[in-house]
Amino acid sequence: MNAVPGFDASRADPEEDPDIILSEDLESSADGGARTAPDPERRRPLILRSPIARKIITFNLLALAILVAGVLVLNPFRDVLVTQTQRMLVQEAQLIARIFEAELPAFGPVDMAQRDGIDPQAVVDGLRFPAGLEVYVFDTAEQLVARAEGRPEAGHVVPVVDEPLLTGLLSRAWELLSAPFRGEETAATPSGEGAARALLAEALGGRTVWRTGQTPAGDLIFTVAAPIMRGEAVAGVVALTTVAGEIDQVLRLEREQVLQMFLVAILVSVGLSLVLASTIANPLSELAAAAELGRRRGSSRLAGERVRIPDMSARPDEIGRLSKALRGLVAALYDRIDSNEQFAADVAHEIKNPLTSLRSAVETLRMTRDDDKRAKLLDVIEHDVRRLDRLVSDISNASRLDAELVKEEMKPFDLVQMLRNLIEFHRIEAEEKGIELIADLPEEPIIVHGLESRLAQVYVNLISNALSFCGYGDAIRVWAREKDGFALSFVEDTGPGIPEGALKKIFSRFYSERPGDDFGNHSGLGLAISKQIVEAHGGLIYAENVRPTDADKTSEPLGARFVVSLKV
Ligand SMILES: Nc1ncnc2c1ncn2[C@@H]1O[C@H](COP(=O)(O)OP(=O)(O)OP(=O)(O)O)[C@@H](O)[C@H]1O
Ligand SMILES: [Mg+2]
Repeated sequence: MNAVPGFDASRADPEEDPDIILSEDLESSADGGARTAPDPERRRPLILRSPIARKIITFNLLALAILVAGVLVLNPFRDVLVTQTQRMLVQEAQLIARIFEAELPAFGPVDMAQRDGIDPQAVVDGLRFPAGLEVYVFDTAEQLVARAEGRPEAGHVVPVVDEPLLTGLLSRAWELLSAPFRGEETAATPSGEGAARALLAEALGGRTVWRTGQTPAGDLIFTVAAPIMRGEAVAGVVALTTVAGEIDQVLRLEREQVLQMFLVAILVSVGLSLVLASTIANPLSELAAAAELGRRRGSSRLAGERVRIPDMSARPDEIGRLSKALRGLVAALYDRIDSNEQFAADVAHEIKNPLTSLRSAVETLRMTRDDDKRAKLLDVIEHDVRRLDRLVSDISNASRLDAELVKEEMKPFDLVQMLRNLIEFHRIEAEEKGIELIADLPEEPIIVHGLESRLAQVYVNLISNALSFCGYGDAIRVWAREKDGFALSFVEDTGPGIPEGALKKIFSRFYSERPGDDFGNHSGLGLAISKQIVEAHGGLIYAENVRPTDADKTSEPLGARFVVSLKV
């Protein structure tokens, strides 16, 4: 484990990474919810406690309201009805005009007002009109010459429709609101004769004209005026007006239906929005509550208890992702806290050994009169003090390493040149000990992107370990090659090799296993630091034994081999 491990939440997947052990209570029930502390907020209705829920509902209702307002304002149904009624009235007016034309004498003077040549009242009285229709006949002098009203036919059933409930309430508001949007066609016009007269001038020009207006009561009123032709000349005008109460009734009913639909849609929309909001807001507030609890615990007596982030990773959406990421984050944080605690414990333990030895040496020194013994004890004390000094500086280097690795800027450099320099640097020491130091390096440079001085530290550790384990007649070979985008480097020696059980342990902090006379001169941090540096470069470092044969794992190793692989 690193002295201060790199912080990587993505790696820290509690499910997949066996290194990260969450406290048992972190595991949650199968339904994706977790046994978190009950949130008092949860007792309040969702809509009151969740701004997200309110937003979802508001936006959904807004969309619905725009739709309904659009339907009501544009009112396509009304337009269709109005056009149909107009067309029917135009036909009716033209038909009556044709009847008048047929009744008019072919020759001789005609005066409708004097009933000379034709009796207009008799003509209209002879016709039957539907109820609500008023017929006016004017002569060319715009004088009303005949008038008739439609009467309900015998047996005609008049539907009695109750004022629709919602529309009754809303229609007044509606009329007020929609008044500014009504076009010219809805300009208030006087009923009956007045309305008919308004079109008279144009109809006397020989054209059939119509207009849709509105009575002061708000009902639609249709007026049509058609000319009565006698040859090429206009002989009079037939005008029809109808107060289309029925159309208004139908329109009101239609509006009522739209509003009822709107009401149902509102209920459905609010319901669905609440369901949607609860699947988003509830789990989010659960996650937030768990995180907040963690923050509060950080500064309270509960600090010992671990934060429980609910496991929603089964959800295939962003909330599942968030929960997974948060759990990973928390696990990585605990991992880091644990490792820091472990580091502190290891440091205390490592310092305690020389301190204990120091104390007993000092105590014995007090009681000893023998000069020889005193000199020996002073040697022990000096050795312990030096050991402590080295330990403390090694520990302080190791604990700063993580921060420094992040701070320093990675640059490209030639690994081959670096190894060549290091070998030259160690050559004198090797020659003094009678060890052959062999360099097997390529001619071409291997350019690695990284922190040159830190990586040099790794190879210095490896070479000095090898030198310390080798004796007269042994050999150390350092070789490197570039392959498939990797810079592979090896430090091999013909020393005693590494005990099989210790192959993994040698990279742990403070693990040092050396022959008797060397004991106490090493802190056991060299390989731990090397591993940390190599991993900070995204690389890999491992150790193996060189064996006479692969088949027999128990055979005495012929030496140790350390492999460092870095990305180029
Ligand atoms: N080349 C090697 N051959 C055999 N054993 C080795 C070799 N290199 C390392 N080891 C084993 O791995 C242990 C840990 O090495 P590491 O470099 O971490 O610590 P150290 O050298 O003992 O102390 P320090 O590096 O702090 O002075 C060594 O004590 C030794 O037992
Ligand atoms: Mg070492």
